[in-house]
Amino acid sequence: MKLHIVISSTRPGRLGGHIGQWFYENAKHHNGFEARLVDLAEVNLPFLDEPEHPSTGRYVHEHSRQWSSLVDEADAFVFVTPEYNYGMPASLKNALDFLYHEWSHKPVGFVSYGGVSAGTRGVQMTKQVVTTLRMYPIGATVAIPTRQYVENGELRADQALNDSAASMLAELAIVSAAMAPMRAA
Ligand SMILES: Cc1cc2nc3c(=O)[nH]c(=O)nc-3n(C[C@H](O)[C@H](O)[C@H](O)COP(=O)(O)O)c2cc1C
Repeated sequence: MKLHIVISSTRPGRLGGHIGQWFYENAKHHNGFEARLVDLAEVNLPFLDEPEHPSTGRYVHEHSRQWSSLVDEADAFVFVTPEYNYGMPASLKNALDFLYHEWSHKPVGFVSYGGVSAGTRGVQMTKQVVTTLRMYPIGATVAIPTRQYVENGELRADQALNDSAASMLAELAIVSAAMAPMRAA
């Protein structure tokens, strides 16, 4: 099964790259998945510029077709995301809006980070969006309070954090396998 770990923030100097890399290092050693790091800064989508609803699958732009095939090949996702003003980053919402069926019947786990809420308010908003796309947000969460875990712009992961990543990977593997017949249909 293929797991795509999506770094959602795109701004220069972001923390998201470090956190995505940390989760990827954990996922690489997980037997259930072939993990891939997907960076929305590199994907570099413009604001949604397709004339038709994404559920038609008719895309006129090459960037949409490339994003479609990248998302389509995944069996499960982890969104690595901060919250911006209690919500998801616009880059993540835009990347979700670009596609439709490519997301369907795939589980998603959230690795969030931020101040006192550790990004969880943004995750709550994102769950509402992903269920519309027929994604399945899993129960396991990784929520990183940056004051506790970030020093000089670097993530200092401890055993508890690595354990929470392992729990998320285990649940994703189970749910992704259970949903495979839905994806096949
Ligand atoms: C536009 C903006 C809005 C933010 N809003 C919140 C917020 O609502 N809650 C929070 O805990 N942190 C907030 N922060 C602080 C972020 O948690 C922190 O800057 C984090 O590093 C952002 O992720 P990034 O570096 O990957 O972009 C905000 C930061 C930015 C740039």
